[in-house]
Amino acid sequence: MAEAGSNSVLFVCLGNICRSPIAEAVFRKLVTDENVSDNWAIDSSAVSDWNVGRPPDPRAVSCLRNHGISTAHKARQITREDFVTFDYILCMDESNLRDLNRKSNQVKNCKAKIELLGSYDPQKQLIIEDPYYGNDSDFEVVYQQCLRCCKAFLEKTR
Ligand SMILES: *[C@@H]1O[C@H](CO)[C@@H](O)[C@H](O)[C@H]1NC(C)=O
Ligand SMILES: *[C@@H]1O[C@H](CO)[C@@H](O)[C@H](O)[C@H]1NC(C)=O
Repeated sequence: MAEAGSNSVLFVCLGNICRSPIAEAVFRKLVTDENVSDNWAIDSSAVSDWNVGRPPDPRAVSCLRNHGISTAHKARQITREDFVTFDYILCMDESNLRDLNRKSNQVKNCKAKIELLGSYDPQKQLIIEDPYYGNDSDFEVVYQQCLRCCKAFLEKTR
């Protein structure tokens, strides 16, 4: 049995109100159901500072609720410290990845492995598209992608 908080993951998207809080809540539910939540530090954040302090988009909240999951997250922007403290920073699209790699280059001792969450998808959907301008079905697609990827990620890190 690993020590408390011995693994850590930060989910990141553009604004931290749609995709990354969904991924965070899904992963938290998975580790809780597997009784390994003590082994994990889990959070989410944004590349941008647009929504700092805001709760997730109501459509993200209702999508999660449809799957029996709740979230109390408030959006925050990624910090320099995040690159030094988290083991994994998992993001949603190529634009997130570029921004994160640029930010990480300005940080000494970056520890985090920065990856696309979609790189874990058994169905090989590499990019998790922003559902902000979409509808409820787009949020459901994001949820399903996050679920597949988070399961595979958890398996890999066992
Ligand atoms: C987690 O713990 C609960 C309660 O002790 C138990 O019923 C359940 O089977 C466990 N789940 C796993 C995946 O070990
Ligand atoms: C969502 O939008 C797509 C087209 O962008 C459409 O095909 C689909 O039926 C819509 N779904 C809902 C639930 O409104």
